[in-house]
Amino acid sequence: MRTLLVVAHPDPDALIHGLADRFASRVKALGGEVDVLDLHKDGFDPVVSADEYALWREHKVPDKIAACQQRLMAADNLVLAWPVWWATPPAMLQGWLQRVMTNGFAFSFDENGAHGLLSHKTGLLVNVGSPNSASLSAQYLEPIQGVLKYCGVTTLKTCVNWGIYPGADAERVSAALVAAEKFAEEFA
Ligand SMILES: Cc1cc2nc3c(=O)[nH]c(=O)nc-3n(C[C@H](O)[C@H](O)[C@H](O)COP(=O)(O)O)c2cc1C
Repeated sequence: MRTLLVVAHPDPDALIHGLADRFASRVKALGGEVDVLDLHKDGFDPVVSADEYALWREHKVPDKIAACQQRLMAADNLVLAWPVWWATPPAMLQGWLQRVMTNGFAFSFDENGAHGLLSHKTGLLVNVGSPNSASLSAQYLEPIQGVLKYCGVTTLKTCVNWGIYPGADAERVSAALVAAEKFAEEFA
């Protein structure tokens, strides 16, 4: 199984990068393949330009986006690793979804409405500053889960590490690393 692992955090020393590394190492140790897309390292531009929006009307995308779509289609699984920022994924990841999950690639319309076109087993590997809370879980995760479901994803797993912030105690950080390794077993 091949996983496209998309990581959205500007600081390479942030814990989410450590979790993504642990996740990738464990998938590989179990015989899976991982294609890591570090959006900041890649210099990804999350903003849809007027030119790109005009291309969408012709069901086209820029070459850079076509390359992302090819990487996604070469994978069986999609895992998104991100911290919650103001109740949402960072703008970098939201922009990646907005630019890559295009009409005709990730979903299409017919007389019955919209149909998702992706069938990737998908995972959300998420760090959250607040303590665990069912209402925050719904608030933070449901919007992105809705996007993925709209695009056809039916198997959607989550690994959410609560109470994570710079300077969080070592025990919590170790537990998050162990959780990321365990999460990898779902995608090997
Ligand atoms: C701009 C910004 C906004 C944040 N917004 C939230 C928030 O809405 N809810 C929350 O629980 N934590 C919030 N946090 C805390 C982050 O979720 C936390 O710092 C992060 O998960 C730590 O993991 P990291 O070291 O991998 O970045 C925010 C942090 C930043 C920098």
